Amino acid sequence: MLNKKTVRDIQVSGKRVLVRCDFNVPLDKEDPSKITSDKRIVESLKTIKYLVNAGARVILCSHLGKTGQNKTLAPVAKRLSEYLEKDVPLLKDIISDETKDFVMNMNDGDVCLLENTRMYEEEENNDPEFARKLASLAEVFVNDAFGSAHRAHASTEGVTHYLPSVAGFLIEKEISALDGGINNPQRPLVAIVGGSKVSSKIAVLTNLLDKVDTLLIGGGMTYTFVKAQGGNIGKSLLEEDKIDVAKEILKKAEEKNVRLVLPLDTVVTDEMSENGNVFVSAPNEIPDEYMGVDIGPKTVELFKSIIADAGTVVWNGPVGVFEIDKFAVGTNSIANALAQSNAVTIIGGGDSAAAVEKAGLSEKMSHVSTGGGASLELMEGKKLPGIEALEDKE
Ligand code: 3PG
Repeated sequence: MLNKKTVRDIQVSGKRVLVRCDFNVPLDKEDPSKITSDKRIVESLKTIKYLVNAGARVILCSHLGKTGQNKTLAPVAKRLSEYLEKDVPLLKDIISDETKDFVMNMNDGDVCLLENTRMYEEEENNDPEFARKLASLAEVFVNDAFGSAHRAHASTEGVTHYLPSVAGFLIEKEISALDGGINNPQRPLVAIVGGSKVSSKIAVLTNLLDKVDTLLIGGGMTYTFVKAQGGNIGKSLLEEDKIDVAKEILKKAEEKNVRLVLPLDTVVTDEMSENGNVFVSAPNEIPDEYMGVDIGPKTVELFKSIIADAGTVVWNGPVGVFEIDKFAVGTNSIANALAQSNAVTIIGGGDSAAAVEKAGLSEKMSHVSTGGGASLELMEGKKLPGIEALEDKE
């Protein structure tokens, strides 16, 4: 549970409130003025509307893309204006006198958006002077950028050194779902961990072994585990230097009495495209010229039956190369099984959330996280600096 103060715990009426959101939304490659998923904007509305209704002067800020890309938040300002049914002007920078003048002349209930924080290198360097200037625009800071809470940047962590700082409703909701789901779950607790690499999931696997009853493994990392057990994996993805880690995880699962389930069968191809030859193989008997790209039908059935008996399911990482439709069957089947189950279903952000959204099943889940890296770090048992820096609840 979140042990930090939230917007409910402070007086905001008539105050300039700086709100850090995660408006890092996907944009259309051909037409970057088009937002392809506005989930992060929609999820930020509860806090913004609360502040507007309470008579605060709301100064929104966010990053978009990476430092150096200089992407504009103009499409976000437009979408916010539509949702809030009021003008949300985009201020062209963060620290000019013009910007300062603008915010000093805002009225109660007004909302504006500062331009992309990553237009300044100081943002990622968590530069104290930049953070101080950003903070000087406001009297209170609200962090609602769950997706950026694992970053100690000027607009997430730096500003908290200069302003009373509390959490918004999205951060509260994310922590309650993710932390509650892992540390105080309805049992049995089942975790499905996929994704391509063991290396990027070591910490999450290790942490989850202390919490879960059953751990289902899928995705590209399967093959390093199969190799660790002496199987033939053809030209499937292998992290040679992580074979010992995989062995260690298998051993720990046994010691901790966690049921660790690897795929029973796997879809293999000789070409990573829609055009290759495809068949179903035992994961430990993959022919030399073939690679595993999805869980097979027997595994889908097994995973479905385990999900059907679960009290809580936490899912992080697709179980196949879901970007290619032919190899998305396993991932889609998992999404469907979760949508139909009575369990508490918690979807980590990033690829798993994208898969659930693509399948049109987001509404059927208990919680779909808005944070990729942030939800992964939480599942690894780490503290998130953007949240740690906020004021503790009394
Ligand atoms: C995300 O998209 O996961 C968040 O917005 C964080 O973005 P970043 O990885 O570029 O910091």
